Amino acid sequence: MSEVVVVGSTNWDIAMYLPSLPLPGETVAGGTLQSGLGGKGANQAVAAFRAGGATTCFISCIGDDDIANSVRQVFSELQMPIPEVRVIDGIGTGSACIFVNAEAENCIGIASGANACVLPAMIDEQAARISSAGAVLVQLEIPFETIERIAVICAENQTPFVLNPAPARDIPEALLPMIDILTPNEVELSQISGMPSGTIEEVTIAAQSLCNQGVGTVVTTLGSRGCLIVAKTSTEFIESFKVAAVDTTAAGDVFNGALVAELVRGEAISDAAKVACAAAAIAVTEKGAIASIPDRDAVLAFMSERL
Ligand code: RIB
Repeated sequence: MSEVVVVGSTNWDIAMYLPSLPLPGETVAGGTLQSGLGGKGANQAVAAFRAGGATTCFISCIGDDDIANSVRQVFSELQMPIPEVRVIDGIGTGSACIFVNAEAENCIGIASGANACVLPAMIDEQAARISSAGAVLVQLEIPFETIERIAVICAENQTPFVLNPAPARDIPEALLPMIDILTPNEVELSQISGMPSGTIEEVTIAAQSLCNQGVGTVVTTLGSRGCLIVAKTSTEFIESFKVAAVDTTAAGDVFNGALVAELVRGEAISDAAKVACAAAAIAVTEKGAIASIPDRDAVLAFMSERL
């Protein structure tokens, strides 16, 4: 089976669980603290790895600080080899401060640190690996020029290129035809398409507009409702699983990692999306990013109980 290649950020997350999210100028007491490995890239790589089947290669950068030792320790405990995670001298590992409220919603601040060093030259060194991958999964916490370089290599070699456009930003029109699968949430979909996405009908129209501009398939995640898969001539809603959420951090990442792992396994996109919904549903019942990612056996057991 071919490899899943994930290119993206590695962060150390410091998460505080509070009764409510602080407003500007406000102090909210009564919190509890948890820290651990995170970053959209690392979360998606671990989600793909835990989904099993294909080998997962994670391309990222960490600093030369103590946090980097903690990052390596977590990957080692997960038994996930990270030969392509490079140490950059003289810079800190990326970090994220996360507030989570009693409704499991979060807000996140990021210091990029070494993630800014995932540059096109590093991608050129990995061109053979990227071109032979079963799929390449990328998010937007690394320099955009790097993402454009990956897209070109994938397009030149017919390697499936999956872009999770998070955190939200504008995507140049020229990049859209190089994207095989785009996985925005509703907010990101609205920003990229310039169209409203408040209802399923609006999501469908906005996603179709992106398909008309060249994106292969748009899989829009709809939180606890599930996701909508839109291609040029088809639309399919995949319903998620009802759970009691405690922390939605990394739910989108778990969805993306599991989705791509299932696709590389050879599953059809609607079946892959159902498994990805289940993996994300399990993830929101646990606190933390990496700490909440289930393996494939747990996901399949959860699905067989619920279906
Ligand atoms: O998607 C969740 C992730 O976003 C967190 O782990 C944090 O590091 C930020 O990158």
